[in-house]
Amino acid sequence: MSTDIQIDEQKEAVRLYFSDETPWKTIYSEDGWNPFMARQRLRYVIRLMDQLQIRSKGAALDLGCGCGEYSRLLLDRGFKVTACDSSEDMVIEARKNAGYANGSFQAIVADAESLPFAAESFQLILCIGVLAYLRKDNEAIGEMFRVLAPGGHLILTVLNSVRLGRLPKLCAGKLLRGLKLIPPRTPTGASIQVQEYEMVRRSHIPRQLDATLRLSGFEKLTSLSLGYSPSLLIRKRPKTAQKLSATVDKAFQKLHLPFQDRFGRYYIVAVRRSASEQQACSPGQEQQATQGARGQG
Ligand SMILES: C[S@@+](CC[C@H](N)C(=O)[O-])C[C@H]1O[C@@H](n2cnc3c(N)ncnc32)[C@H](O)[C@@H]1O
Repeated sequence: MSTDIQIDEQKEAVRLYFSDETPWKTIYSEDGWNPFMARQRLRYVIRLMDQLQIRSKGAALDLGCGCGEYSRLLLDRGFKVTACDSSEDMVIEARKNAGYANGSFQAIVADAESLPFAAESFQLILCIGVLAYLRKDNEAIGEMFRVLAPGGHLILTVLNSVRLGRLPKLCAGKLLRGLKLIPPRTPTGASIQVQEYEMVRRSHIPRQLDATLRLSGFEKLTSLSLGYSPSLLIRKRPKTAQKLSATVDKAFQKLHLPFQDRFGRYYIVAVRRSASEQQACSPGQEQQATQGARGQG
């Protein structure tokens, strides 16, 4: 299958996946592991913004806004917010959730890989949990660089391929694959059937994402990682897993251990578009940098 067809199929699958029925519409008010992690991630994004003293300085973009939870956060902090998402249903939901601040908020349907905004339009971009649903990173990251003003901040989160909680599964997989009892890993990502389409959800290796961002012209400020419960515990004892995960996250943030920002379920990175211009990386360079971005498994 040609890459273009794969990308079109992926986009259609993502649009359907995040349509009316998606749990993402109400995720922040639900019970369960995924809603818990979504709320934790929101908490740590807020913490990161506070740590970097990112305060209202004009226009912010909530890229891949989903139900608009981050748009609300930005509005509450005084930003003039533009939210966009490739799913019309999510845009409608974001308008319901964040549209109370009429003059300061607009939400539109737009693709992260081809943003309908002028260069240097935003002082802050949040791109939370979106890269997983793209086939590759370079176009979207190039677009974020283009629409971010020099000196502006980008906060990006991805699902971490090398998260500790996956270790037992990875080891078991390696063993079973070594014994040829299960098929080899595909480099593309976890595959999810959405109606007649196959959607890939990718996870990333933090160090490789950092390299892609650097090659695209961004300067890294800080990063952190959260979500340290083993998958087994999450399935068998979800409440215990939540408590454990929250406790470990909290302790890690205090202890400042080396590499603690590398092995949680989510990797959160804050970068800045430096005032001095640099060229965005070519797809070839990006491929080198991100080789190994893997599926969720
Ligand atoms: C996991 S949800 C996260 C939503 C929101 N950022 C949050 O954290 O609450 C991912 C969102 O990315 C959107 N998305 C996926 N691919 C996209 C693309 N190419 N352009 C714009 N949005 C996209 C989806 O429609 C979905 O709303």
